[in-house]
Amino acid sequence: MELIDGKATSAKIKAEIAAQVAGFVAEGKRSPHLVAILVGHDGGSETYVANKVKACDACGFKSTVIRRESDVTEEELLKLIGELNHDGDVDGFIVQLPLPRHIDEQRVTEAILPEKDVDGFHPVNVGRQSIGLPCFNSATPAGIVELLKRYNVPTRGKNCVIIGRSNIVGKPLAALMMQKGIDATVTVCHSATDNLKEICRNADILVAALGRPEFVTADMVKDGATVIDVGTTRVPDATRKSGFRLCGDVDFDNVSPKCSFITPVPGGVGPMTIVSLMQNTLKAYLNNNIR
Ligand code: GUN
Repeated sequence: MELIDGKATSAKIKAEIAAQVAGFVAEGKRSPHLVAILVGHDGGSETYVANKVKACDACGFKSTVIRRESDVTEEELLKLIGELNHDGDVDGFIVQLPLPRHIDEQRVTEAILPEKDVDGFHPVNVGRQSIGLPCFNSATPAGIVELLKRYNVPTRGKNCVIIGRSNIVGKPLAALMMQKGIDATVTVCHSATDNLKEICRNADILVAALGRPEFVTADMVKDGATVIDVGTTRVPDATRKSGFRLCGDVDFDNVSPKCSFITPVPGGVGPMTIVSLMQNTLKAYLNNNIR
């Protein structure tokens, strides 16, 4: 069993990006600039945004966090997005999700210009990705594919089973894994899937992205499979200073001995998701003709 080290891989990619950015800056160009809009004070969102700012620092990017209280109106948020859409100093921006219930997340997502949508959540980017056109890829699926490539995990003709059909992981990952060049045979499972265990046992690459701690047990995994764990549920843990620990969707202790490759939680997919955001921001900057 080989552990897929997302933390080390992400550090390597950030160093590659930083070297490229240092070259641009040495030529007198400005740095790439990512803006994150953070609404309210959700603990998970605060941590994710802080990690995105740290990643920007590591890549030599400028970053700005724009905070709004949780009683911000949808109209105010849409106005702010309209301003960022037309701000030439901003290469790309994200609105950290989830948003308070009175705000329509889909309306907010679609208000971001596709050219600045470095999360790759806008339907134009989702659609372009699904037919293999240049676009901003969805961050988590792109991070997973990058890990499979860097660890030389065979994908061509292999059975890839994805548990979870979310718009930000399951669906876009299915589209990526079946694309020419990756060439996996993809099955997407969800809460209504019959015979889930049998389907999973047929997977050469099993991706758990349903958000249920330790859902994938050893009897669901074929010997020699590659297992990718996208779960990051916070479970109470009194032994931690924070009072919680991150728990994946895979029963790691019992599943890992059966695997060829497996991602840990934390330190697997999570850091790669942030690196994909950095790669998309660099792409937006380059598309922006580098002033
Ligand atoms: N919330 C959880 N993951 C993400 C992400 O990748 N982007 C944004 N904007 N919000 C999230």
